[in-house]
Amino acid sequence: MGRLIGVSLGPGDPELITRRGWAALQSGARWAYPVKRAEERSYALDIAVRGGLAVPDDAVELVFPMTRDAVALAKAWARAAARTVELLAEGRDVAFLVEGDASTYATFRHLARAVRELAPEVAVDTIAGVSSFAAAAACADVALAEEDETVAIIPAAYGVGLIDHLIDEFDTLVLMKVKPLVDEILDLLERRGLLATSCFIEKVGSPEERVVHDIARLRGETVNYLSLMLVQNPKRARGELRRGCRKRAASVGPASTGLPTQPITEAG
Ligand SMILES: C[S@@+](CC[C@H](N)C(=O)[O-])C[C@H]1O[C@@H](n2cnc3c(N)ncnc32)[C@H](O)[C@@H]1O
Repeated sequence: MGRLIGVSLGPGDPELITRRGWAALQSGARWAYPVKRAEERSYALDIAVRGGLAVPDDAVELVFPMTRDAVALAKAWARAAARTVELLAEGRDVAFLVEGDASTYATFRHLARAVRELAPEVAVDTIAGVSSFAAAAACADVALAEEDETVAIIPAAYGVGLIDHLIDEFDTLVLMKVKPLVDEILDLLERRGLLATSCFIEKVGSPEERVVHDIARLRGETVNYLSLMLVQNPKRARGELRRGCRKRAASVGPASTGLPTQPITEAG
């Protein structure tokens, strides 16, 4: 049995493929890449191609349809897992190409699980990569978190009720999969006075990359599935913060324990 390798390729710019990912692609492992429909273009494969790599003749596409039909999904997963096990049984490693990071909302973890159910002896190696939101923050020139700030990463499909609630709980919200909810989210951000501290990023790192700071103008637009929003709430009321392990704090505590006598609360 070969190894199943999840090769994170970053969100679009081949310069963000890690050295380990790059090496795996060139290791002689058989490439497998995800598509939504048979013979459709693969966003992940395109990243490798933009990086200057030729697609090996024996690269294999695995179909993962975008559907909520549980039966169709289960069938597709079973087919993809069975095909992967068949390939691994040839004794060669399989490098599964993943857009973004392979551990973040990625098909790879499901695939690895399904493969292990069929063949528990298969060794799985996950190569970490740059996630869409890390690249998006860099590209939009905003911080995901500074100092003691908190960040939540959520699929927007939980709805604006939950987003509204989380705005008060976190300094930054990363809203993934925003496509079907853009207008509703814009209404919420307008109501909360957060349009100016939010931004929208689409297909980051790809030639079609788009960074929108004036997000109100997205109203009514059909955006690409590969898009997200970063929402920052500078007015968030914070709780008490314990900084017991900091040296500065320790110096005010009793010499015998080295601990601060009381928690230091956040400024402001
Ligand atoms: C199935 S998840 C894949 C996440 C990916 N594994 C990662 O590490 O970011 C798909 C969602 O991730 C976000 N996403 C993925 N790639 C993106 C990109 N290049 N630009 C903007 N958002 C992206 C979008 O919110 C999209 O709906």
